[in-house]
Amino acid sequence: MNEDVVLLHGGAGSKDSFSERLSKYAMECSNIKDSLEAVIHSVRLLEDDPEFNAGTGSVKRIDGSIQMDAAVMIPGKLGSVIGIERVKNPVEVARMVMEKTPHLILEGDGATTFARKMGFHDYDPSTERSENIWKKTVEYLSGKNEEMPKRYENYLKFSDMFDIPKSTDTVGAVARIDGKFAGAVSTGGASPMMRGRVGDVPLPGCGIYVGEKGAVVATGIGEEIIRRMFCHNIYMQIGKESLRNILEREVEAFNGIEVGVIAVSGDEHASFSNTSMATGLFSR
Ligand code: GLY
Repeated sequence: MNEDVVLLHGGAGSKDSFSERLSKYAMECSNIKDSLEAVIHSVRLLEDDPEFNAGTGSVKRIDGSIQMDAAVMIPGKLGSVIGIERVKNPVEVARMVMEKTPHLILEGDGATTFARKMGFHDYDPSTERSENIWKKTVEYLSGKNEEMPKRYENYLKFSDMFDIPKSTDTVGAVARIDGKFAGAVSTGGASPMMRGRVGDVPLPGCGIYVGEKGAVVATGIGEEIIRRMFCHNIYMQIGKESLRNILEREVEAFNGIEVGVIAVSGDEHASFSNTSMATGLFSR
């Protein structure tokens, strides 16, 4: 049996210097003997850390609301929430969808109502940081700040649709424990974005894929990840060459559009990104 591995990332754009913190979070899994427990524990720690764009500290939509996405996956099973609001740990709700409902994905009000029924109390995930990012977004989109990053340009075309309003991205974890795989992801989304916009995180094959050959989770601009069915595409190549080579080639195919990925297979683990991305690893 190959070693147990838990690998975490803090999102495309997260400072590499956060890797020490992520390694501490990964070490917290040292007593966990189950891959699903390990990835959920890891992602919960990242959701509770306001430096990352998931759970507490999630970025706001253009209208100022916070809608979060999260998913968990093990071979043959998925739980996912889309646009959930006012809960502390979306990844835990995604797990409940997998374990307590006949469904795979719940969205919007239905996801939030389900969370309340499962005992998740009302929680405001906004922070001073997310408020500041949103204020900048409003400035850019209203033309009050001329140093506008390129990614806002598309939004200006639609500016009359909004009442006019850089963050890091998704957090995620993959694990192989006792030869069993699991993955988990959580995000506030990719700012700037409209209310109701859905990214890659809650969509199986896009921001997450786990099967009998391994686990893959992604971070970056959701629209680009969805177009490529990024995680399933990588998963299908597992075993054909080294995991590191597969990740590198698939990330490079994004031609500089910000993206990152972590993965475990039966005998390897790897991470690759075309931007800064904090990672943490525990193995035994
Ligand atoms: N990768 C997160 C998102 O695009 O929503």
